[in-house]
Amino acid sequence: MKRFLLLLGAVLLAGLGATWARHNAQENSDKPKGAADDYKIPAADAARANPVKSSAEGLAEARKVFGYDCEMCHGAKGDGKGDVVESMKLTMHDWRDPATLANVTDGEIFYIITKGKGKMMAEGERVSEKLRWNLVNLVRALAAKGEPKSAAAGENR
Ligand code: HEC
Repeated sequence: MKRFLLLLGAVLLAGLGATWARHNAQENSDKPKGAADDYKIPAADAARANPVKSSAEGLAEARKVFGYDCEMCHGAKGDGKGDVVESMKLTMHDWRDPATLANVTDGEIFYIITKGKGKMMAEGERVSEKLRWNLVNLVRALAAKGEPKSAAAGENR
């Protein structure tokens, strides 16, 4: 009899354990997915054409803002090696690789600059729409530069 009770106890305990595990699993699957998974750029925004032509003045203006608001993550050259990348544990993309932004539209870049993405904060209405399009032009200009011709020229990190 004693043995039977022990066995019964063990069976009950095992059952409880299984219920608890199931409950936990369910709780985990109910959690909202990571922001990156849910990130969708509306088709109309992605299709927007850049109304601002790239110009020396526009790029210079964007460069200033880039220095304050973007460089610490994306790096001065757009290589994704900014100063805070390590401490913030960011996964950055190297824009100098032509493949990185090849399939990204101007509209999508504008949307990401405006709304932010993942750990990147939104530039939003802090700067004018025109300046945000010029930031798009600057991102493209950095991408067009490609790999620096020689490692000695400016590879300082
Ligand atoms: C806090 C760090 C941080 C700052 C500041 C920041 N970004 Fe980002 N940015 C990111 C990260 C991280 C991603 C990738 C997000 C993802 O895909 O989840 C990203 C993505 C992008 C993308 C999409 C292409 C890519 O590389 O994934 C563009 C374009 C971009 N950023 C432009 C800018 C511009 C322009 C600024 C300044 C106005 C800026 N970012 C400021 C961290 C930052």
